[in-house]
Amino acid sequence: MNARKGIILAGGSGTRLYPITMGLSKQLLPIYDKPMIYYPLSVLMLAGIREIALITTPQDQDQFRRLLGDGGQWGLSFTYIVQPEPEGLAQAYLLARDFLDGAPSAMVLGDNIFFGHGLPELLAAAEAQPEGGTVFGYRVADPERYGVVDFDAQGRARAIIEKPVQPPSRYAVTGLYFLDGSAPERAARVEKSARGELEITTLLEMYLAEGLLNVQQMGRGFAWLDTGTHASLLDAGNFVRTLSERQGQQIGSPDEIAFQQGWISAEALRARAETFRKNDYGAYLLQLSGLE
Ligand code: DAU
Repeated sequence: MNARKGIILAGGSGTRLYPITMGLSKQLLPIYDKPMIYYPLSVLMLAGIREIALITTPQDQDQFRRLLGDGGQWGLSFTYIVQPEPEGLAQAYLLARDFLDGAPSAMVLGDNIFFGHGLPELLAAAEAQPEGGTVFGYRVADPERYGVVDFDAQGRARAIIEKPVQPPSRYAVTGLYFLDGSAPERAARVEKSARGELEITTLLEMYLAEGLLNVQQMGRGFAWLDTGTHASLLDAGNFVRTLSERQGQQIGSPDEIAFQQGWISAEALRARAETFRKNDYGAYLLQLSGLE
């Protein structure tokens, strides 16, 4: 079978975080000690995915390239794709059609941060599903801000509604989508919504209508952090700081995951540690590499 490929959607206008994002892409903002995009990238890496497309605005692509390069430092391969205008999440599958070349995919939004014990197992289960798709439902206090799952009496998902005024449940669909190789072809049939976007929820409903969508619960033991407002951005950074300082372990480190997956050698990890030798991140990587 075709190996699953990854997509990080990191475009958008970022207007909710103005004036910060007037000069910098949202997904490059710091979440405590690392750029935001490290966290969703880490999720794809934990799922075992090594071929990844990064979709950005035309004006921000250079900065992403400067930060992430070709992925070789982590044993990955990056393909950069431009989204000329932010015309909706489902458009990512049209832009990435050639890159995917029929392969199944895992798409993560560049501003979504996940953390929790058992995440690799949850990802492995989604990865193992050959046909259809898997999305994750997460209970939130403010479902009207998200795509929301409508469940029938048996607890099966029957609809997914984008930003409903009256949410049918408290379960938001997170920004992590495992879809089979038919996603680009289906995305081509998505029509623009009233707000002028190719909605991911419309694409997901196509899978749902055919009984091909698995809505997997992500329980309360997981953190799915919001970065959509100035306050939640700071909260996310504080969360990462609190946990990583307490445990003495990194959250969302592509360097650590690449090493643990066996994609880079101890020498390569040491070279990375050298780049960061003036801070705690470098010391952490050096220790991981077995030198300290
Ligand atoms: O975070 C999960 C939610 O993400 C889902 O529950 C919703 O169903 C989904 O529509 C989306 O909602 P948001 O309101 O968060 O979408 P937003 O327009 O903020 O876009 C999410 C990210 O994707 C953001 O970092 C910008 C980027 N983006 C967005 C659009 C519309 C793009 O790169 N290109 C785009 O065309």
